[in-house]
Amino acid sequence: MTPRLNVNIDHVATVRQARRAPEPSVAAAAALCEQAGADGITIHLRGDRRHIQDEDIYTLRRVVATYLNLEMAATDEMMRVALDARPDAVTLVAERAEEITTEGGLDVAGNFETVRRAVESLREGGLFVSLFIDPEPRQVESARDAGARQIELCTSAYADATLGARAVHDGGRERAAAELSRLRESAALAAQYGLVVAAGHGLTYRNVAAVAAIPEVAEFNIGHNIIARALLTGLPDAVREMRERIREARG
Ligand code: PXP
Repeated sequence: MTPRLNVNIDHVATVRQARRAPEPSVAAAAALCEQAGADGITIHLRGDRRHIQDEDIYTLRRVVATYLNLEMAATDEMMRVALDARPDAVTLVAERAEEITTEGGLDVAGNFETVRRAVESLREGGLFVSLFIDPEPRQVESARDAGARQIELCTSAYADATLGARAVHDGGRERAAAELSRLRESAALAAQYGLVVAAGHGLTYRNVAAVAAIPEVAEFNIGHNIIARALLTGLPDAVREMRERIREARG
């Protein structure tokens, strides 16, 4: 089965928040992603609200016709939002205020009771829970023991090894192969435990294929590289249209 693709549209909101403007609309972006074949929409409500805002979740809950996955830290504030907004899935992630992006998986093994309680509350509220973890057997086991239905394997160490100079000069190819093995092993273990396996973070058009070939991977959450590509592929039309409006005004 082809893995599902959820498009993470956080960075549509990043552009909007840069001006606190109404555009670009995350609802319009979500609809376009769905029209183009996305199986779902993923958003991350961060404690600092740097991109997605609370009202976006409620808007997207109304307009997303496929599948809405809300990434969040397991704080009391976020738990209230999730239980109220009722996304199709909640992905619990680790979050640090100073980080540029999510820096790695949630340490489920090291924070077991807290994560277990959060999973329990969300499940009691009828929500499907995924845990974003590093590809380590003890994290997979802890995710199962904490009651999660799904794990999302953090692909950032693999993705990092495929980038530019690191890949060419610094043993990146071997590191990428080693990271892929870790992903493969954790995916197999999770499937053996009956967990749904997702993957994401740092994936690009160039490095996604090797992860997509892992048979247990049923879902991808990919954001930055798709939005980056969309900006460039959409730019020529956007410039032409503005030139046209200016020209038309002079008859
Ligand atoms: N999965 C999780 C849990 C994430 O936190 C993120 C980033 O918000 C992604 C996937 C998507 O990562 P990227 O934007 O690098 O594709």
